[in-house]
Amino acid sequence: MTYPVPWINIPLRTALAMWHQWTKTEVPELSKFSVLMKQRNKVENTLRTMQQAGPGTLQVISDFDMTLTRFAHNGKRVPTTHNILDHRILIDEDCTRNVRKLLNIYYPIEIDPSLTSEQKIPLMVEWWTKVHHLLIQQKIQRDMLAQAVRESGVILREGYKVFFDRLAELQVPLLIFSAGVGDILEEVIHQRQVFHPNVHVISNYMDFDANGVLRAFKGQLIHTFNKREGALLHAAHLPELQGRPNVLLLGDSLGDLTMADGVAQPHNLLTIGFLNDQVEERTELYVEAFDIVLVKDETMEVPNAVLKFITSGKDAK
Ligand code: TMP
Ligand code: MG
Repeated sequence: MTYPVPWINIPLRTALAMWHQWTKTEVPELSKFSVLMKQRNKVENTLRTMQQAGPGTLQVISDFDMTLTRFAHNGKRVPTTHNILDHRILIDEDCTRNVRKLLNIYYPIEIDPSLTSEQKIPLMVEWWTKVHHLLIQQKIQRDMLAQAVRESGVILREGYKVFFDRLAELQVPLLIFSAGVGDILEEVIHQRQVFHPNVHVISNYMDFDANGVLRAFKGQLIHTFNKREGALLHAAHLPELQGRPNVLLLGDSLGDLTMADGVAQPHNLLTIGFLNDQVEERTELYVEAFDIVLVKDETMEVPNAVLKFITSGKDAK
């Protein structure tokens, strides 16, 4: 039996067109299996709007630990800025043991999907305060930090150089907003040669005495769930960020979403969330909260592709 050709072709053509429409994307990397998006259309519209507005209207706000740095490598956790301090030239065995004990108690709370940020906040303050207190007792010497970073095994996500260099080249400000240790963070990006003039850091900085010995931490404590206050206090007043209402935000914690709260009258905000740990338990929360979720993706491939797209329109170099 034969069918008349137009009868079979039209629906086929329609199906093909629909399929093409579904799979067509300006950023092919967004079709990777590790990428989850609740509203793909909204993401693509925002991407196009940001591209049209040009890099002169863009700012990038990123978390540091487990966002710009890898979560794990060869099955082993990559150290955070706090954990980089776990080096015998800086702290003794007792301190190592105590800091690790605290990590084992509080990190599961930090990522527990059954607790709200409000419930976590007092416990996070407790964690950071205890750790900073232990570190201060160790009389850490500023001169030793660079060596500790060099020997730490910290790894930035693959593709980090493209990310930092492109932003610098386009003079797009990159605000790194970290609840980690600012001095260590700066040393990491300095050693990787990506601490470009467009990079601004908000973090917990060490306060050293005249002999270069740690005596306190400066300013108001930043932990994972009070970045909103830091944004309003610091980021909102950075002159380099003014007049840039389009924001690309990168984070690995739900608390990171408040890093853009200091942006006056944002036009477009596109958020990318790395879901590193407790994937099954947290997927739903992350997909609801971030525009783009990257599941167990240790690379900068998607952020770089997004960045390339939104900076390749007018005014682009
Ligand atoms: P971030 O804001 O750059 O991600 O830095 C905060 C991370 O640091 C957070 O996810 C928990 C982690 N952290 C440690 O690994 N060790 C510690 O002792 C503390 C206080 C925090
Ligand atoms: Mg983080």
